[in-house]
Amino acid sequence: MKINKICCIGAGYVGGPTMAVIAKMNPNIQVTIVDINPERIAAWNDEDLSKLPVYEPGLADIVAETRGKNLFFSTEIDKGIDEAEMIFISVNTPTKTYGKGKGMAADLKYVELCARNIADVAKSDKIVVEKSTLPVRTAQAIKSILHNVGGDVNFQILSNPEFLAEGTAVEDLLKPDRVLIGGESEGAIESLAKIYGSWVPDNQILRTNVWSSELSKLTANAFLAQRISSINAISELCEHTEADVTEVARAIGMDSRIGPKFLNASIGFGGSCFQKDILNLVYIARSYNLQAVADYWEQVIILNDHQKRRFSDKMISTLYNTVSGKKIGMLGWAFKKDTNDTRESAAIYVTDHLLNEQAEVAVYDPKVRKSQMYTDLNYLNTRSEEENEALMTVHNDPYEALKDTHAIAIMTEWDEFKSYDWQKIYDIMKKPAFIFDGRNILDKKEMNKIGFEYSSIGK
Ligand code: NAD
Ligand code: UGA
Repeated sequence: MKINKICCIGAGYVGGPTMAVIAKMNPNIQVTIVDINPERIAAWNDEDLSKLPVYEPGLADIVAETRGKNLFFSTEIDKGIDEAEMIFISVNTPTKTYGKGKGMAADLKYVELCARNIADVAKSDKIVVEKSTLPVRTAQAIKSILHNVGGDVNFQILSNPEFLAEGTAVEDLLKPDRVLIGGESEGAIESLAKIYGSWVPDNQILRTNVWSSELSKLTANAFLAQRISSINAISELCEHTEADVTEVARAIGMDSRIGPKFLNASIGFGGSCFQKDILNLVYIARSYNLQAVADYWEQVIILNDHQKRRFSDKMISTLYNTVSGKKIGMLGWAFKKDTNDTRESAAIYVTDHLLNEQAEVAVYDPKVRKSQMYTDLNYLNTRSEEENEALMTVHNDPYEALKDTHAIAIMTEWDEFKSYDWQKIYDIMKKPAFIFDGRNILDKKEMNKIGFEYSSIGK
């Protein structure tokens, strides 16, 4: 099928950047991104590009280049579906918070709503592309919904999972390691392959069956997260043995079978997907009664929770076993640098733990809005909104946040933190002045020379 118009349902961290790049690389295709959230669409359409709802290096330039030419953002979902030959489903698939599979399974209600919406509106043949991360065999459910609408409209379903990482989304989209397309119909697969073929070499466009494609996405995230939990487990051992986790990571990473990437010990991984996708994998394994498989992958999450917890426990024990009434400066709230996304960020859990111990927390993050930080904390429901507001303050200036603090926790590896005037920070802190570097971004010797009590991960 020749594709002239694409509709993408879901204008989030995946839909926005992915479609912007597809539009840039395919100027002859009209790409419309639709969403039920009118504020999000308005932000994507804002004249002021600093107001785009997703912050990603390089994204604003691409939006400026394509928006209004062949890239459109709209709340008119039915119109978008009706006009397009190809429809991407790129909506959120969070962990279920109710009913069967609560806390484990992916909540597919948004995906199902999209499928029903497409079924209701479509008057001509469509290729429906699963861009959201979905449990293996979801295409079966989508197919069943689409094929039960009657009429003679023909639907082809493809799985085309996205592998971009936030903070490097544009770079990852422009130079993907691979593009994965799973499907039954060769014609549909090639229609989508042609779109990516505008900039991705054909030998990097992988064609598989639908189920392999769906399962590969969950597997890729599970393997990536497993590497982090593996190095984080070793980091704790390092702290007891005088081994240095950075040296260990370097030594093992030079083995070409292991490779150097994704071996940075940290306060634990965050982000909207690793935990959700592994929990989903565990749930699927259990649903097939594969207990050993489920237990194996669950351990990645257990270790990650342990890593977050032991970071805050270490802060408390180092600060003479009490943080009550003490001011703690928190640098970074995003789950990693170069993004404004905070979903599952370790900073949220560490802050909650410190507030339970009656600490006062003062936060600075270069990209995350104050309202988002309170939303994240309130979502945990540990204490009232008023209490959270009284105990946590948010600052636009890092030096203001760190003034009079007893200790600093570095939660995100923002580059700017490295170039701060650390002598100045030391001077405005209470003494002894502690730094807990959850990202290993500062130099221990330099910090000790200034006078800080400095501790990091795995050293
Ligand atoms: P997101 O929450 O940022 O965006 C999803 C959007 O879908 C929201 O704006 C929401 O309003 C909209 N939406 C929900 N239901 C809708 C409906 N019925 N009709 C129209 N719009 C609807 O989510 P995201 O981070 O973009 O993730 C989307 C999917 O991509 C998830 O399955 C996720 O696992 C996967 N994924 C995410 C990343 C990432 O880095 N964030 C990377 C790869 C894959
Ligand atoms: C991850 C994957 O890297 C993407 O391929 C995938 O598409 C995406 O999930 C998804 O499905 O959502 P993302 O979560 O955006 O991307 O970011 P990562 O770079 O993977 O970082 C995830 C978390 O792990 C962050 O908190 C990061 O700080 C942490 N991390 C990463 C470490 O602690 N150590 C490392 O060595 C690498």
